[in-house]
Amino acid sequence: MSEHSKTDVRVRIGPVEFKNPVFLASGICGYGEEYSPLMDIQKLGGIVTKTITPRPRKGNPPPRIHEIPTGALNSIGLENVGLDAYVAEKLPKLAKEKIDVIVSVAAEHIEEFDSIAETFAPLDGYKGVELNLSCPNVEEKALDHGRNPAFVEKLTRVVKNRLVDKAVLVKITPNVTDIGSVARAAEAGGADGISAINTVLGVDFDLATGKPVFFRGSGGYSGPGILPIALQKVWEVSRAVSIPIMGIGGISSVDDARKFFVAGASAVQIGTSLWQDLELPQRIVSEFEQHPEWMKKGEVKT
Ligand SMILES: Cc1cc2nc3c(=O)[nH]c(=O)nc-3n(C[C@H](O)[C@H](O)[C@H](O)COP(=O)(O)O)c2cc1C
Repeated sequence: MSEHSKTDVRVRIGPVEFKNPVFLASGICGYGEEYSPLMDIQKLGGIVTKTITPRPRKGNPPPRIHEIPTGALNSIGLENVGLDAYVAEKLPKLAKEKIDVIVSVAAEHIEEFDSIAETFAPLDGYKGVELNLSCPNVEEKALDHGRNPAFVEKLTRVVKNRLVDKAVLVKITPNVTDIGSVARAAEAGGADGISAINTVLGVDFDLATGKPVFFRGSGGYSGPGILPIALQKVWEVSRAVSIPIMGIGGISSVDDARKFFVAGASAVQIGTSLWQDLELPQRIVSEFEQHPEWMKKGEVKT
């Protein structure tokens, strides 16, 4: 094996090549601003920025994060600066810092997704979009859409038609009976990749009040406790589609990341564990550079 191929960990998602397969998951580090002084985001495959919606959103009332021994529940409610401010302020900053960006977007209607894609089509400074069809913390119909294969296919086609030279990923919810059918619909609509999984629906109760800890009741469960669920879902998706999969959910070590490749992923995103271990993403990159064979999908014999 040549020296070059030993450290070649590039990953292709549709028309776009990323320098390595390790990304920061949406919602964990906002628009990169808070984290870029703390870590070399430039050295990662990229960052998926906080989901933006056509208009700014205030999000849910506090509390929004509730720690539990195996991770966290959150009920942020898609607080974000909105499309216009993102395009005017956030994207140029990230581009200036040479951070590879995947823009996460959500909307309620296909027409809104189309209009977001139209806005992004002529812009530079990002490599792809991730369609968030899986946020459990909002009232709107967005989550129902993400469970409806016909809608997912139609929506993906509309966006991909506008963003031909970008990587279009569809982020799907684990909170469905048959995740494979949703992934297949995204692939049929022309998605370049599947991001799986978003948070798992969960709830906790305050024994003093007898009520859920969150204003909206249920929240999204993330962190180490969801790793086996995420691996299961990625495994199911990998048997359903042939496009690349970004494996997400509960990664807190290099070995956790490796397991997603065994399950069929081509890249990984790190979320909740970043709060405790800022060096984890870079450690995964370094280890994969030393062992590019770990990026091989499928069963590993030890
Ligand atoms: C506080 C918080 C906010 C999140 N916000 C978003 C979001 O805006 N868009 C999105 O697609 N996923 C969001 N997620 C989900 C993560 O991107 C990821 O899919 C999930 O947390 C599972 O990965 P993890 O266990 O490594 O955290 C959020 C997760 C957390 C914990």
